[in-house]
Amino acid sequence: MNQAICNNLESFVLDKGDFWEISCSAPSNIALVKYWGKDNARGPQIPSNPSLSFSLENCRTFAFFKVSKEEVKSPSFSFFFEGKASPTFEKKMRTWLTRLEEESECARNIWAFLSQRQVELHSMNTFPHSAGIASSASSYAAFAFCFWILGQRLLGKDSGAISWQEISTWARLGSGSACRSLFAGFTSWGQSNLIAHSSDYYANSLENVHSTFKDIRDCILIVDSQNKAVSSTQGHATMEKHPFKDERQQIVRQHFQMVLNALASGDWALLGQTIEQEALHMHAMMLSANPAYLLMKAASFNVINKIRAYRDSTKLPLYFTLDAGPNIHLLFPAEVEVQVMEFVREHLQSDLENGKWILDQVAAQSIKQESYFLE
Ligand code: PMV
Repeated sequence: MNQAICNNLESFVLDKGDFWEISCSAPSNIALVKYWGKDNARGPQIPSNPSLSFSLENCRTFAFFKVSKEEVKSPSFSFFFEGKASPTFEKKMRTWLTRLEEESECARNIWAFLSQRQVELHSMNTFPHSAGIASSASSYAAFAFCFWILGQRLLGKDSGAISWQEISTWARLGSGSACRSLFAGFTSWGQSNLIAHSSDYYANSLENVHSTFKDIRDCILIVDSQNKAVSSTQGHATMEKHPFKDERQQIVRQHFQMVLNALASGDWALLGQTIEQEALHMHAMMLSANPAYLLMKAASFNVINKIRAYRDSTKLPLYFTLDAGPNIHLLFPAEVEVQVMEFVREHLQSDLENGKWILDQVAAQSIKQESYFLE
């Protein structure tokens, strides 16, 4: 799908005389089978297990990248988040580019080029700052695409085919789950005998998905928008010496297989039960880590119990998953949206921080050409 839409690479670049301006947007994604733990011995951001997600249509990062064409006397490299200089993001970008440099010749050329130029990176998210939704996946995916486009321009290959695998590999080196955000629809990442051409280095689109999931909705219920006490990076690290490390590997692989089966056969109940089990299993890893920690809040438990009670009484197909945080992603098919949203307003909204939720759906397109920053 992306291939058809993005075949004109030049359309992502504006030639502004002394500068090039490159921009796009990329989606966030929600994992149904979680990447939890890294295999550090095999390289940076290599997952311990295969994971599977779908990209979100509306929760996106817009990235804009301005670079002088010629070498300048005083090179500069700055990052602006929502219009304000962000030294934190600037540092993250530098670290990422340095990591990329070690991985690929093309990335090495780009970094060498950028270090002699005037460079401005800008980003903004379509979802609110305080929504508790991690923006690292959508940010790294969007900037990986922008950097790659520059790389092609430097190589004089503006009209070539897009290498989604290479861009996904670059995004992975920023934040693991970002590699899945380069694809629309459902995506898997991580080597598995169940998926041909699967890889630990990049993600792939999942083709065998029943039409019943093609319009899946995700209502993100914001229980708490504060920064997490324990980051994903720290969470992954706790899996290295986790007492249930081997059990986790066995169970997550079973979940992966069951989710693949459910997606292929159109079995909402199997999908729903498995993803709930999987999300709670990841949180159980936090509860049983050493030191143990807890990211769910009292309201997360209230919301989960209410979702299950409502499902039992109505028999409607609505199921939850959680990221490494307290917020609940409520998943359901488009045809029950009216009833489910009524349930959210009447029964769940009071448990949410400032009554806040975001209704989203599976992305029909991942990378989009955007003119937001150009207006
Ligand atoms: O990509 P990271 O390092 O932020 O880790 C993501 C971890 C989870 O969101 C909890 C699971 C996943 O697969 O997205």
